[in-house]
Amino acid sequence: MEKAVEFVKINKHFPGAHVLKDVSFSVYAGEVHALLGENGAGKSTLLNILHGVYAEYEGEVLLHGKKVSFKGPNDAIVNGKISKVHQETLVVKDLTVGQNVTLGYEPRKGVFVDYAKMNKDVDEILGQLNCKFKSSDLVSELTAGEMQMLAIARALYHHSNIISLDEPTASLTMKETEALFEVIQKLKKAGVTILYVSHRLEEIFQICDRATILRDGEYIETITVAESTREDLIHSMVGRSVAAVASRLKPSPMTDEVVLSVDKLSGDKFSEVSFELHKGEILGFFGLVGAGRTEVMRTIIGADDKISGKIHLNGKEIPRIWNTKKALNAGIGLLPEDRKTQGFMNLSMNYENVAISSLEKYMKGPFVNTKKKIVNAKHYFEEMDVHPRRVDYLTKNMSGGNQQKVILARWMSTDVDIIIFDEPTKGVDVAAKAEIYRLMEQLVEEGKSLIVVSSELPEAMGISDRMLIMCEGKITAELSKKIDFNEDSILNYAIGGI
Ligand SMILES: Nc1ncnc2c1ncn2[C@@H]1O[C@H](COP(=O)(O)OP(=O)(O)OP(=O)(O)O)[C@@H](O)[C@H]1O
Ligand SMILES: [Mg+2]
Repeated sequence: MEKAVEFVKINKHFPGAHVLKDVSFSVYAGEVHALLGENGAGKSTLLNILHGVYAEYEGEVLLHGKKVSFKGPNDAIVNGKISKVHQETLVVKDLTVGQNVTLGYEPRKGVFVDYAKMNKDVDEILGQLNCKFKSSDLVSELTAGEMQMLAIARALYHHSNIISLDEPTASLTMKETEALFEVIQKLKKAGVTILYVSHRLEEIFQICDRATILRDGEYIETITVAESTREDLIHSMVGRSVAAVASRLKPSPMTDEVVLSVDKLSGDKFSEVSFELHKGEILGFFGLVGAGRTEVMRTIIGADDKISGKIHLNGKEIPRIWNTKKALNAGIGLLPEDRKTQGFMNLSMNYENVAISSLEKYMKGPFVNTKKKIVNAKHYFEEMDVHPRRVDYLTKNMSGGNQQKVILARWMSTDVDIIIFDEPTKGVDVAAKAEIYRLMEQLVEEGKSLIVVSSELPEAMGISDRMLIMCEGKITAELSKKIDFNEDSILNYAIGGI
């Protein structure tokens, strides 16, 4: 087998942290190779080394048998024929698709950009990728999935024969994910080597040939996917057995008392949404990406304006002027889906980011008791197995999944009675997911009430007392756990069938 990529004894240090330790393995040409591991295992760091984002490291990277060292990602794309597609694809919103795909390397006629050729070339690539949008479309009009296709188109424009995808499906709709998988198969057939990172294990079984597992910066093993089970992979990643499915361990403390009632609420992207949340309940909101669930939640906490309808909190109608601050004071908070833009303060340490929404808790008269903040953060870091277990780390230097845990800890620290979690386990590894479900159970036991917006059906089914299904801005079904939780019918409601 020809080796497309070889990592030889890679070591990577950040100040105070040794995050890759003697990692060696190879990726065959033309295979889809998964990179697996818990949050903070070092997956993204290794890809960053491969793609020239980090120039400083020990060890060697070989592409097709030749040692390489790139000056930066662009150098890697142009001279190494190797591209990285990641979630926050960098695009210039005001430009067209074609301009973004060819950015910096536009076809030219003399000194001028040859737009006709640009559009022809890019449209041809988009055609190969089965894309419905065109080179001349504005990037600002693309969906998350289309944005990802744009990044792949850029890779193909530069004739990349090695492409890595770091959690590409986290924000994609089911259709977009299917389309992406088709493209991956097609690229594979054309001989392109793919490196694939995802916390959704079912995807690994769907599209990957082999998988390399990292744990705590160390190489564990490389396995053939078809010869392994889900349990094997989890055990290898975590080093022990972990329940791979979401489930409730304790009896539900749900009562009849209604703490939140929403009556015919309409907003920009949803209409006539009505439901009640009970004290001690975990209410699941399931739907496909784009169903309007996030917008409903944002309207409830006053981040977006409502068009019509009523909201009652503990029996009292919310005041006419309503915003997130007032909502928080009234005891309701939202953990947002998009942690990068709405999540944490970039230059703060973890313990500060955990404390942001519960500042009164750490006051001693007029003074802030920093020690209290630290103790509080440490508690949740233990509970959720945050890695590194350091509350004095800059949050921005944590891995993606661990940043999500920092934000979860923030919401768990607040005194609000109602917490809305929007996609709480996005990018979170299997072991940490299980911990987060336990913490949710603890919260309802303490008398809080939760709404959990989730696009992962097993998760929504596993942890909810009741589920509301949304499709295209409307609630299409209300199901209770004991009677109606059934995978097929839930999916049917989510795509608008009856
Ligand atoms: N710039 C940095 N400074 C200090 N530490 C860093 C920096 N970037 C990453 N790290 C640390 O390196 C380790 C590996 O992080 P990495 O992002 O590679 O993990 P990952 O496997 O991609 O995790 P996830 O599944 O959460 O995305 C983490 O402990 C992280 O905190
Ligand atoms: Mg990562």
